[in-house]
Amino acid sequence: MAGGAHFDGGTTKDYPGKLTGFVLLTCIVAATGGLIFGYDLGISGGVTSMNPFLKKFFPSVYRKETADTSTNQYCKFDSQLLTAFTSSLYLAALVASFFASYVTRKAGRKFSMLAGGIIFFAGAALNGGAKDVGMLIAGRILLGIGVGFANQSVPVYLSEMAPARYRGMLNMSFQLMITIGILIANLVNFGTNKIVGGWGWRVSLALAAIPAAIITVGSLFLPDTPNSLIDRGHDDAALNMLRRIRGTNDVEEEYKDLVVASNESKKIKHPWANILKRKYRAQLTVAIMIPFFQQLTGMNVIMFYAPVLFKTVGFGANASLYSAVIIGVVNVIATFVSIATVDRFGRRTLFLEGGTQMFICQLIVGTMIAIKFGTTGEADIPKWYAILLVLIICVYVAGFAWSWGPLGWLVPSEIFPLEIRSAGQAITVSVNMFFTFGIAQAFLAMLCHLKFGLFYFFAVWVFIMNGFIYYLLPETKNVPIEDMAIVWKKHSFWGRFIDDDQDNNGKPPHTPEV
Ligand code: BGC
Repeated sequence: MAGGAHFDGGTTKDYPGKLTGFVLLTCIVAATGGLIFGYDLGISGGVTSMNPFLKKFFPSVYRKETADTSTNQYCKFDSQLLTAFTSSLYLAALVASFFASYVTRKAGRKFSMLAGGIIFFAGAALNGGAKDVGMLIAGRILLGIGVGFANQSVPVYLSEMAPARYRGMLNMSFQLMITIGILIANLVNFGTNKIVGGWGWRVSLALAAIPAAIITVGSLFLPDTPNSLIDRGHDDAALNMLRRIRGTNDVEEEYKDLVVASNESKKIKHPWANILKRKYRAQLTVAIMIPFFQQLTGMNVIMFYAPVLFKTVGFGANASLYSAVIIGVVNVIATFVSIATVDRFGRRTLFLEGGTQMFICQLIVGTMIAIKFGTTGEADIPKWYAILLVLIICVYVAGFAWSWGPLGWLVPSEIFPLEIRSAGQAITVSVNMFFTFGIAQAFLAMLCHLKFGLFYFFAVWVFIMNGFIYYLLPETKNVPIEDMAIVWKKHSFWGRFIDDDQDNNGKPPHTPEV
């Protein structure tokens, strides 16, 4: 262990209260905000490979793509225009998350979720009815704004609602909804691709309205978090809400801590200036590095590339369906593993285990592809080899799905004090979107140049991120969210950035209770 570099989160306060049906229900409803992001992640790749869609909106891309007869599996047809179109969503989400942080802080978490749902709904309608590229792009930008609002507010909402002992589990329902959204979207694409009239793409895009309606209507019924209620001056409502979600009247201690956090928060007029202060260097670093690393695991490359790989290794015409179902189901099921274990094993254990698993799988996949495809990118692969490759990819996906996938959203949402939580989450969303964009844009060119080495490239990154987690991420399991400052203060590296009178929201550091 890194010289006491991590803090045993199990020894801070333990407020009374239980996991009530009410909190479970509110968290499940709020988590459906993940469906819109997941649905979009799953739907775009399929739609942009449908010929009627290309012919209508991107005829030049269609012509070039059909003229491309290369059998080199590394250097696939690469249209920057098409990827830029897909990626416009990530850029819109990146910018929107900063506006969302303001709304989330001033008007409440619930309001941002509602806004996200409505805007995404409008985007789905525009896209489903698109007559020209202009409508398509406008729709995509609206979808991106919706995702920016949802991803900024939902993880914060979940982390604040949850009792500390169940925070990991409840927060991860967001990632669960992302994975379910991806799976459903892939299945929808498979069906709509078969529509003879060539308007299947319209159905795929328009159906995005369903997850949007779910989070929109759901958020109308959601209560706001006690933390946000107090912060916006509704003290009585906050106390009642706290009693209701904890299932006990004995919430005095937790309530007092929320009030202290809120008093600190009210002193802060400019969260953006504040977040840059030395005492928040740890949280800021983690909020930037975690989403950056999440994208550098290469998960999205595996997801984009899987249908190609499945086709090459012999799944033929149904390759994309097989790939979607196999990878999608593993992704969903493995997420349950982290939901069940994160509050017992802790974030660090899952990060390190998942990272090691992904590292080993990437080395094996890279080597197996190198052996068969060499540097020419041409190969005839025996069935057993193909099956083995698919199995290892599944082990990789499972590793991501119980570590960097859900933890990439959980950890940033639980480490900041109230006054800069909303701003911190906006940074996480924007870094995530920026690198999702960057990798989508670059991956085909990288594959063409690095060949099988692309898998080694990501393996090196996963190795580096394991080091980051091991040395620089303290354990946050079971620590009450408004008590998190003590975790940083106690960390052997980050502690030196925090002066004694600055920690724990201005309260004197309390001695952990055993
Ligand atoms: C990531 C996405 C990824 C998805 C896969 C999410 O946590 O942010 O980039 O596609 O997980 O399940």
